[in-house]
Amino acid sequence: MLRAKILSTGSSLPQRVLTNTELSQMVDTSNEWIVERTGISERRIADKDKATSDLAYEASKRALKAAGMKVSDISMIIVATISGDMSMPSTACFLQKRLNAKNACAFDVNAACSGFIYALSTANAFIRSGLHKNVLVVGAEILSRFTDWQDRSTCVLFGDGAGAVLLGAHRGKSGILSTHLYSDGNLWDLIQVPAGGSRMPASKDTVEERLHFIKMKGNETFKVAVKTLGSLVEMTLRHNGLSPSQLDLLIPHQANHRIIQAVASRLGLSMDKVVVNINKYGNTSAASIPIALDEAVCSGRIKKGDYILLESFGGGLTWASAMIKW
Ligand code: COA
Repeated sequence: MLRAKILSTGSSLPQRVLTNTELSQMVDTSNEWIVERTGISERRIADKDKATSDLAYEASKRALKAAGMKVSDISMIIVATISGDMSMPSTACFLQKRLNAKNACAFDVNAACSGFIYALSTANAFIRSGLHKNVLVVGAEILSRFTDWQDRSTCVLFGDGAGAVLLGAHRGKSGILSTHLYSDGNLWDLIQVPAGGSRMPASKDTVEERLHFIKMKGNETFKVAVKTLGSLVEMTLRHNGLSPSQLDLLIPHQANHRIIQAVASRLGLSMDKVVVNINKYGNTSAASIPIALDEAVCSGRIKKGDYILLESFGGGLTWASAMIKW
């Protein structure tokens, strides 16, 4: 059977570390509150002269090197992001230019924190249909540019980074076994950046009112996320005829340590089967899963034949999962 297989991974994190202690000098918060409520100790912040495609480029170069693939072999580039270089053109086109990937079409996917799995699922469909052979899928964010550094309820959460995977067509039993995408636009207002689009174009007033920054109803989002993700992971396992005990690794979107633990405990999974790096990077939205996947690959946590479950939840609302046999 023709499947899409992850050939390699790569990631890129800015060097600058912003600690909770530094944040507590900027807004009314504390290291204890942030660690207890979110699991985050620090996050990375991109240098001023970097744009999202720069982080995407570094992550992609590493994935290309790891696969030993020529850039000319890539026929499609998909970047999942909500913090692209510009609203137009796409960040994927900037990445294509940087990589000199002349044979690739390039486009962005916006599904907020679920963006990476949405992009992976899109690439998977193109590969399984036989239309594309090698696809580069990237999740990249510089959320620090969309973060209101005066709002303690959101500024402690987000970070910058990028992760990339190279997918290739492959005949066999391993690869991406299934992907599952869901949305509920009725709950659009739980996480949003209100201004800067056609509904509320940028103006002096929107800037003064700080409407170009991420707004989130955190507690409401938290409750929906826990409920939704629990059913999502159970359904994904059922769909593939697997029991939780057959799962080798859960790679969740890193939004809140308590959400991650709730999902693991619903499956009866011990935390050593869950990849957690939210303590180091915070919530990097579409980048969190490919960064965590790359770290798991590089540290030798993944072996051939492993069943790996990816899951995410984010603005839109959107939620998504993917089951992979490595
Ligand atoms: N430092 C100290 N206190 C803070 C704070 C901070 N950084 N941020 C909020 N608080 C306060 C609130 O003002 C509130 O105070 P009050 O009780 O006096 O009104 C109290 O802490 C509790 O706030 P609440 O928002 O109910 O906290 P919470 O336990 O829900 O945690 C989040 C907040 C954001 C960490 C949590 O809701 C969350 O992770 N939400 C989901 C995020 C998510 O999954 N997003 C989807 C993908 S982006």
